[in-house]
Amino acid sequence: MNDKFLIKGLAGQKKLEGTITVGGAKNAVLKIMAGSILFKNMLTIQNMPFVEDVKRLGELLTDLGASVEFSPGEVKINTEKIHTQNLDEKTATAMRSSVVLTGPLLARYGKVVFPAPGGCTIGKRPIDLFIKAYEKMGATVEYKDDAYIMTAQKLKGAEIFFDIQTVTGTETIMMAAVLAEGTTVLKNCAMEPEIGSLATYLVSCGADIQGAGTSTITIQGGGLLESKQPYITIPDRIETGSFVILGALLAKKLRIEKCDPSLLESLLSLLTASGVHMNIGKDYIEILESNNLKSFNVRTHEYPGIPTDVQPQLVTYLTQCIGEGIVFETIFEGRFKFIDNLKKMGAHIEILNNREISIKGPTPLIASALEAYDLRGGFSAVVSGLLAQGETVVKTVYYIDRGYESLETRLCAVGADIQRIQ
Ligand code: EPZ
Repeated sequence: MNDKFLIKGLAGQKKLEGTITVGGAKNAVLKIMAGSILFKNMLTIQNMPFVEDVKRLGELLTDLGASVEFSPGEVKINTEKIHTQNLDEKTATAMRSSVVLTGPLLARYGKVVFPAPGGCTIGKRPIDLFIKAYEKMGATVEYKDDAYIMTAQKLKGAEIFFDIQTVTGTETIMMAAVLAEGTTVLKNCAMEPEIGSLATYLVSCGADIQGAGTSTITIQGGGLLESKQPYITIPDRIETGSFVILGALLAKKLRIEKCDPSLLESLLSLLTASGVHMNIGKDYIEILESNNLKSFNVRTHEYPGIPTDVQPQLVTYLTQCIGEGIVFETIFEGRFKFIDNLKKMGAHIEILNNREISIKGPTPLIASALEAYDLRGGFSAVVSGLLAQGETVVKTVYYIDRGYESLETRLCAVGADIQRIQ
């Protein structure tokens, strides 16, 4: 947990060169892992990133009684022997995605006990929309000793309108509806690609889901699913976007492979307009040396808009652009903690309110001791360290390991000087 990264800065030189391979999407794998509870037989997941969040979710499933076997790039899960529906306090509060387990557990076993999820550095992360949906599906929800106790004889299909487009809310209730009685119609759904990927696979195993990837999803409830082929995880679009931004700032020539550029069109179009030179293929993006980058204003937005998960990386990018840029974070109310790092390094950033900041550039960054406050802020700290003059330490890299597998190894392979110190 206390690992650190020691980073030798390139002092503004664009020297990184070579190929980085993108892993499977963390935010897809976590959901299909929870979805294993909907299956009567063993589920195999491939192209799986072996990141900390995946390991934690594997532990949660094992604690419930499931069998979970990891091998390189793959996990096999059999949930036949699940004997409890009480989610472990420690892991469940440390990881937001554990809330996704509540849908399949409640739908299959009629009961789930779930500790109120802890907030984190990016916001309160409430689950009111999940609770409202479960109650509409006939569940009884009690709140006692900091935990939700949810019971339901049998979940019933319902018509549910999400007041806010919620990614895990959409995925969790969609999966609960797979085993509910009758028809469920979900409206104002999130449309992230991971949701479509999940639904397509569940349908191939016997679920009846229509409309995933659009704002209205209709599910006909039925019995347990049967897996007939492995789930192949789609490429991680946020990891791809993270490496595109890294390349734009630091590369002579960086080839990003095993990605799906069509999943990040909004980001690629924004960066192209800012002056980044790139060649885009079907499953690769090549970033060529780009100078005199121009600043821009940007608003994060639900898919297919600019993802909030590349906002910290974009803020770091804007410190190196000519001009002033305003970043408007519309999804989370507190996703600017990482700015403390950039200000320490000399960046010109002004917080206008808890949703908007102004960044003026270009500003050379000075090496400092930085904190990885959260996953994407942590990645941005690494990028800042590589931009800086001098040696930077990034502390608590566990947060980075939650979503980026062997990041330092992959960056060293393209010429960065990063060491992990235990
Ligand atoms: C998912 O989180 C992702 N995590 C996040 O990625 C991502 O930032 C987020 O979607 C937005 O794209 C996973 O998929 C595991 P939301 P999620 O529910 O589903 C509010 C990363 O970096 N809300 O779409 O938890 C919420 O507070 C992570 O990989 C409620 O008010 O996000 C937020 O303001 C960070 N009540 C907004 O909705 C609820 O019941 C969108 O959140 C649920 C959500």
